[in-house]
Formats: sequence, structure tokens, C-alpha cells
Amino acid sequence: MDTKVLIIGGGPSGLLLSLLLTKNDIDNIILEKNTALHVANRIRAGILEPGTVKILKKAGVGKRLCKEGIKHNGFNISFNNKIYHINMKKLANDTVTVYGQTEVTKDLMDKLAKINTKIFYKANNIKILNIIKPKVEFTHNSKKIKINSQFIVGCDGYHGITKNFIPKNIKKIYEKEYSFSWLGLLSDTKPISPELIYINNTNGFGLCSMRSKTRSRYYIQCSNKERIKDWSDDRFWENLYKTLPSDIKNTLQTGPSIEKSIAQLRSYVIEPMNYKNIFLAGDAAHIVPPTGAKGLNLALSDVNCLSSAFKSYFHRKSEEELKNYSKKCLSRVWKTQNFSSWFTNALHNFPDEDNFTKEMKKNMLLDLIHSNTQKFNLANKYLGKY
Ligand code: APR
Ligand code: PHB
Repeated sequence: MDTKVLIIGGGPSGLLLSLLLTKNDIDNIILEKNTALHVANRIRAGILEPGTVKILKKAGVGKRLCKEGIKHNGFNISFNNKIYHINMKKLANDTVTVYGQTEVTKDLMDKLAKINTKIFYKANNIKILNIIKPKVEFTHNSKKIKINSQFIVGCDGYHGITKNFIPKNIKKIYEKEYSFSWLGLLSDTKPISPELIYINNTNGFGLCSMRSKTRSRYYIQCSNKERIKDWSDDRFWENLYKTLPSDIKNTLQTGPSIEKSIAQLRSYVIEPMNYKNIFLAGDAAHIVPPTGAKGLNLALSDVNCLSSAFKSYFHRKSEEELKNYSKKCLSRVWKTQNFSSWFTNALHNFPDEDNFTKEMKKNMLLDLIHSNTQKFNLANKYLGKY
């Protein structure tokens, strides 16, 4: 079997890349190790930057997003038991859209099914046999299949295999693990606030988010040693309640969890994002802490860049964009890492943090809240406008 671009990984990055390549008549195949159901049901953040909305509309999957997505003019930061609004519409004349990653994934899957793209789900034992003249081998329904392609794109996430084929003497890895995690809960309860609230309270970090006007998504900071089986719904709600500012805490609507999970916070970058005829996009190349809600936005920005580069190569025989892909994406990756890291540090209590640092953080947030310049910068970074 031959194709032009072989995509390893059928998450949001792989699905969008396949759709954009197919729309440009560039033959491609996705190899996904899990089932479609598993991929579709992974719960992740749901805040789309305006640039991401534009990319999804261009790909032809913007209809439901525009109908069901909720536009937010701003978000809130709460500390010292007060709530401060960051009005992005007023400061930077733009909005973010609340639309769960599961919905983005489902829209991409539905679109790809309609245009009959080739996706192998439950593709097992994928082996990359050659990276100069790309060739992979895998098993599907206990049949061994070989595919030759001109390029391989690793959209296989943080635990993927493609990055391993960039030689150790070429690859540079930058990684940082945070000393705490996020415990998240999804519930069919009315969100406590019409827009997000990021909370840095003496009891630690809390985040009040949502998926719709009737479905809430909450997070609290927890230690890296926590196990989900030790967290009943009641224990979660009690701990979330402690982080909430007094003005709103008694409006919290609790209810049974639909999903509960613990996510380790990590920053990670691989340089370069390509080698010979192998390219990396999305979580395969970088991980950001979830504080800035950047993971999906950054992944789809890579894919937009790479699909344009393949279009230039296959339709105009120009290699320029492919050659610049890694440099161009890494510039945005590091700006996003900087913002996500700053926002994470500003809003969390680090276990080994001294009082001086805690007090300095509070004053830094107070400065920000009272400075239009700093709020303008924050609004633009949250919108992905670096
Ligand atoms: N072979 C085939 N598929 C693989 C392999 C492999 N060896 N390893 C991983 N995969 C698949 C996973 O099953 C997953 O479906 O690659 C896909 C990677 O998807 P994501 O991890 O979601 O990464 P990406 O598509 O880049 O999307 C980034 O997803 O995880 C969130 O926070 C992240 O919002 C961000 C977005
Ligand atoms: C979410 O709704 O899951 C979410 C929102 C904002 C974040 C992180 C996660 O910064």
C-alpha cells in the first residue's frame, strides 16, 4: 500500500491533518492504535482560541462549533477572596469559544468518515522501517500490512513512537514536571459562573470551567501521589468549595460526577520537530501545563502550518515551508510555554514555596489587575495572539 503522507496517531492533530491534506488532494493514511470510541471520548480542555476556530472553519468542521460553542468575552482571576474580570473583548477585541475537545474530535471524525479517508483503528505493533524512504509495518485484524509513503507525521502524542526516530545526537528534549497535579470532575450541574474563574486561594488552585450551560468542569490542585479511587465526589466538592471566594461559594451546584481524572502537569518540548522525512505535530512534540488551556490550540496550530507546507510541496514543488516548519512552530511553542508556565506559577501554591514567594505572587497579581497594560498583554496571550 502506498500513500503520500502517513500519519501516526488519530487524535485531534492527526484527524485535522488528514482532513486538511484530503481537502487539498494529498493522499494520506492514519494509523491509530486505539478504537475510534476511545479517541472520541477522551476528556480534555475545551477553550478554543479565535485562531483555532478559524482553522476548524477552514477545514469545514465549524458548523456545530459555531452553533453550540459558547463565546466568552473574558475570564476571571480570583485571589485574596476577591474576583477580578479580564475583559478580553474590551482589552483585545476578541473572544474565546468554549467547545469541548471531545466535540472537536467527533466533528473531525464525522467529516473524515463522510469523505472516506483511510484510518486504521486498532493498528498494532506499528514499526517505522525506514525514514529516508518512509516505510511502516503494522498489524490490523491480525494481518501484517506494509505502507510506503513520502513522509511520516507523528501525531502520536506524548507517549508516541515517532519522536524516537529522531537520532539522539540531533534531538534536544526540554522537560519539566510540576510538583502537583490537577484533579478534574465533570458534572451535569449549572456552572457556578458564566465565564471561567481561575482561583489562587490559600487552599490552593481551583478552576471553574464548563462544557455547556448545563455541564460544568471543575479542577482542584492535588499532590502527585493522589489516586482517583481515594476521591469520592463529596470529597472533591468539599475541597473545591474551600477554594471558592466567599461571594459565590454558596451558589455552587454539586451533583454526581460523569468523569473524574487526575492529570500530571508537565512542560515538554522536542527540538527539532522534524528530521529527514519525519515530522512531529501536536502533543508528539510538546506538552504544556493545562493552566492556559493551550494544548489543543497549539497542536492545531502546528497542523495548520504543516498542512500548508505539504500543499506547497505537492502542488508547487516548493520545499521552503517544509524546511521552515520546525523553526516556525517552535517560535509559537516557546511563546506558549512561557505563557503557560507563567500562568501556572502565578496561580498555584508550590509545596516548597516560602511565604515571601507567596506574598510576592499575590502582589504580582494585584499589580496585574490594576494595570491596563498587563491586562492587555494577558488578554492577548490567552487569545493566542503573541
Ligand atoms: N501508534 C498509533 N497511534 C498512537 C501511538 C502509536 N504508537 N501512540 C499514541 N497513539 C495515538 C493515541 O492513541 C492518540 O489517539 O495518538 C493519538 C495522540 O493524540 P493526543 O495525545 O490527543 O495528541 P494530539 O492529537 O496532538 O492532540 C493534542 O490532545 O491530549 C490532548 O491536551 C492535549 O489538547 C491536546 C490535544
Ligand atoms: C477545561 O474546561 O477543561 C479547561 C479550561 C481552562 C483551562 C484548562 C482546562 O485552562
